[in-house]
Amino acid sequence: MVGVSERVGTNGHGAGAAVADAAAIDDVSPASQIERDALDHVWIHSSGWSDLADKGNLRVFERAEGSTLWDVQGREYFDGISGLWVVNAGHGRAEIAEAMATQARKLAYVSSASFTSAPAARLADMLAELTPGDLNRFYFCAGGSEAVETAMKIAKQVQAMRGFPRRYKVIARRGSYHGMTMGAMSLTAIRNEAYFGPFMYGVSHVPHPNRYRSDFGVEGEQADIMAARYVEQEIENQGPETVACVIGEPISSAAGVHVPGKVYWQMLRDICDRHGVLLICDEVINGFGRTGTMFAIEKYGIVPDIMTVAKGLSSGYAPIGAAIVRDAIYETFQEKGEVALGHLLTFGGHPVCAAAAVKNLEIFADEGLVAQAAEKGEYLAARLEDLRAHPTVGDVRGVGLLHATELVRDKATKASFHKDSPFTKRVAQLVMDRGLITRVWNVIHFAPPLVATHAEIDRMVEIVDESLTIAEGEFAAEISA
Ligand SMILES: Cc1ncc(COP(=O)(O)O)c(C=O)c1O
Repeated sequence: MVGVSERVGTNGHGAGAAVADAAAIDDVSPASQIERDALDHVWIHSSGWSDLADKGNLRVFERAEGSTLWDVQGREYFDGISGLWVVNAGHGRAEIAEAMATQARKLAYVSSASFTSAPAARLADMLAELTPGDLNRFYFCAGGSEAVETAMKIAKQVQAMRGFPRRYKVIARRGSYHGMTMGAMSLTAIRNEAYFGPFMYGVSHVPHPNRYRSDFGVEGEQADIMAARYVEQEIENQGPETVACVIGEPISSAAGVHVPGKVYWQMLRDICDRHGVLLICDEVINGFGRTGTMFAIEKYGIVPDIMTVAKGLSSGYAPIGAAIVRDAIYETFQEKGEVALGHLLTFGGHPVCAAAAVKNLEIFADEGLVAQAAEKGEYLAARLEDLRAHPTVGDVRGVGLLHATELVRDKATKASFHKDSPFTKRVAQLVMDRGLITRVWNVIHFAPPLVATHAEIDRMVEIVDESLTIAEGEFAAEISA
């Protein structure tokens, strides 16, 4: 097959430049060849092809250790976003690799339709000790979107089994992200109607608690209270007898890392109980120490009916997630005897993935990673306060190792930058050039592995500081100082 890089190579521009800074088109070094293969055949999600090809943004990674990654060109990067809020225990954990290899030799696969495996049973038992309240039953799957699909189907089926077949609607929040399979995407606020609509029927999106830019023009805890009241109004508007569940991340990363006060989740728990609506907490990013507690919802003193997890469950060493339900939900299935959940995933509870997750959780316990995240989170928060001196840093917020700074053109009006504005793109380029991997949209994310050192946290913040200073100089005309 003639690859894109060869075709472009013949007219002397395009992908040639890509790889290139890296290498001329006739460069046959192994690194260059791997980059050409990537450019020719791998569908890399968010970067436009021309960004990869023309702007030299292609990065093909080869190895990693702790919080550091190296690409095939030997360039070094600090992982400021733990892959994608995934690698909580850090890169290069030989113990996890060994546990997976041992499991693959012993038993690589068994059908999850009728059976389970020893590592999946061990994992469920370990998790039951860690999850809040009576969240004791685990439906394993292969990632976050599947966990959300599973949770939503459990909610709908259990409502019907309890005598409420008309309760099919789902309330999610604006700014939310719950995955990209069609059901999960229907709950995701940033969904592309033009390409993929119509979405799942019966989903509505309500305001997210946001103390920096409240939809209700109020401040502090009042913003949380108003956002919670809106959920109740939405349930009443839709008709409580039609609503199956409400879903939200305890602290939403996608919505910009706003940390609601206790009152918000306590109100939601109460509202859902009064209206017979199930409450789903999506801990796909929040879970496994990210926010300085094992699960973020622990901070709020409530227990959701269903919780979704993935990402940090194995710290990314294997694709695994779960929908976790309280005893009462599983009891409904037990009472109905033969009725199974209308759902089956071939790779749910995969033994090798479960073995990776078990070892990951053992590392969490041995190294006190949750406590480390809490302590380092406070350190990071203090360092980030310095960034407020920048004319474009409107807000700094977060908890544990889940933080963000919000970029604005004008602090007084809070006029924001579009996530793809030339300014944010320039900042993104500058941080990448300085060896920091993170996401720069209208917020900059700070979410390193829980093993990151104070010195690494310092460097991460310094790189953003330096990059903002340069970009603010270049775009001075667009920014109100
Ligand atoms: C809160 C939340 N839920 C669900 C998902 C979907 O997870 P996955 O990409 O593993 O399908 C994500 C992904 O980032 C997420 O952030």
